[in-house]
Amino acid sequence: MTFTPYVRPVRAAFIGLGRIYDLNVRGYLDNPDVEVVALVDPSAERREQRQADWPEARTFGSAAALAASGLEVDVVEVQLPAPLHADGVVELLGSGWHVNMQKPMCNDLLDAERMLDAAKANDRILRVMENYLFYDPLIKLKSVVESGEIGEVSGYHMKMVGTGLGGWDVPFSSFEWQMEQMKLGRGILVFDDGWHKLSTAIWLFGPIREVRAWIGNTNFGPGIDIDAPTSIVWEHVNGVRGGWDIALATDMYLRSDYYTNDERWEITGRVGFARVNRCTGRGIQQPSLEVYVGGEMRGYHALDDDWASSFRDSARHWLSWLRTGDGPLLWSGEEAVDVLRFALAAYASSAAGGIGVDPRLVS
Ligand SMILES: NC(=O)c1ccc[n+]([C@@H]2O[C@H](COP(=O)([O-])OP(=O)(O)OC[C@H]3O[C@@H](n4cnc5c(N)ncnc54)[C@H](O)[C@@H]3O)[C@@H](O)[C@H]2O)c1
Repeated sequence: MTFTPYVRPVRAAFIGLGRIYDLNVRGYLDNPDVEVVALVDPSAERREQRQADWPEARTFGSAAALAASGLEVDVVEVQLPAPLHADGVVELLGSGWHVNMQKPMCNDLLDAERMLDAAKANDRILRVMENYLFYDPLIKLKSVVESGEIGEVSGYHMKMVGTGLGGWDVPFSSFEWQMEQMKLGRGILVFDDGWHKLSTAIWLFGPIREVRAWIGNTNFGPGIDIDAPTSIVWEHVNGVRGGWDIALATDMYLRSDYYTNDERWEITGRVGFARVNRCTGRGIQQPSLEVYVGGEMRGYHALDDDWASSFRDSARHWLSWLRTGDGPLLWSGEEAVDVLRFALAAYASSAAGGIGVDPRLVS
């Protein structure tokens, strides 16, 4: 597509003003690259609450009402419940707006194709933001590995523990659509939050040629099925193997300013290892990145390891991209489809008893 960077601040609208707005908004505040002109949510309470941040912005109960208003908008920040992503994004692109959306892009490849087609047909950009790629300790982890400091990479491992106690409040309404997703086989840990872990794998080591998965289930009552315990392993095209395990610690307290998710990334090289100790939560109180080589452990004590900063930096990157066109989108719509394929390969593998599935061949 042809994209000409804006020579003035872009005019943006937030579509959906729920829980994640609180973090996503950080890249918009005090940012000369953007002017927030509209806030859209069917909930009057949400509109009123968020209007305090943007007293000049107009508010609407739906994207259709915004489109009909004649208000000039260039880009939309999509924070809709995941089941509304595909139809919602097609509609928003059709209104002539560039889209920056939250993960998961959508549930299947047909919807992904519809979304990419809509971007193309309307000559608009579709970005599926990936804030984990802007998390300072992960950026540093990548650069340590690429510097050769831990030697040639022999493998890596990601860990995720969903804990039941601690963290910020998540309104029940934010959980309701997750239950809808669960019924469609798109669980909260593997598909929703897991999307980020799959993204980091592709970002770190490139395309994947084989995935093997064993996706479990823990039932917490009618309609509440959590997709753990789960183990997924894979091999990248470059030969590096990765693994990820998800466990539940239902009664464990985890200190967190956000969701109660205890995460780690550990990359093993021929002469050492590098490990990110935490991300969303604050489980391990050591430096967020540690690098072990030759009998010595080095800790990075001054990284910006507040998870919220990754949202701020992702949004700033996007808004600056619109002004300059510089750098990768992280992710473009097409790149996000690779993440979707990775997840779909895991589902296909698990359903078939853990056989190897090539994500490039899933349908
Ligand atoms: N990047 C991350 O780490 C991260 C973390 C949490 C959530 N998310 C993603 O962000 C998205 C939103 O999640 P959330 O937790 O904020 O959900 P939420 O349920 O808290 O908020 C969704 C908001 O959208 C509004 N809404 C519903 N239908 C609408 C419509 N047709 N038009 C406009 N607004 C509408 C709701 O009223 C609600 O205010 C999801 O895709 C989720 O997966 C991403």
